[in-house]
Amino acid sequence: MARHELCRLDDIADGGSAGFEVARTLVLAVRKGTAVYAYVNSCPHVGTPLDMWPGRFLTRDGSHILCATHGALFRIEDGHCVAGPCVGRGLTPIDVAVQDDVVKISL
Ligand code: FES
Repeated sequence: MARHELCRLDDIADGGSAGFEVARTLVLAVRKGTAVYAYVNSCPHVGTPLDMWPGRFLTRDGSHILCATHGALFRIEDGHCVAGPCVGRGLTPIDVAVQDDVVKISL
């Protein structure tokens, strides 16, 4: 496992999301204040990326991560699927650290 610099904290809007490719892994990240949650951008249902538009991963109200393919909803804080065809399963979490406004992940 290696530590990678993902972005600066301000590169993700507060309450928003962003997508990245790091070491050939698609990564989705969601920011809430100074906290960042990151997951592998692959739906546990069929394995497709979740975003319909690059970097857009959240429901309209910003409360959940949304899979654009069949509409599964995932909790932002732990990636657990709470609605849709893969309910009870979850996104693959990625370890995140924010240091001096730099977001780093371990892959
Ligand atoms: S691929 Fe995500 S809900 Fe079907």
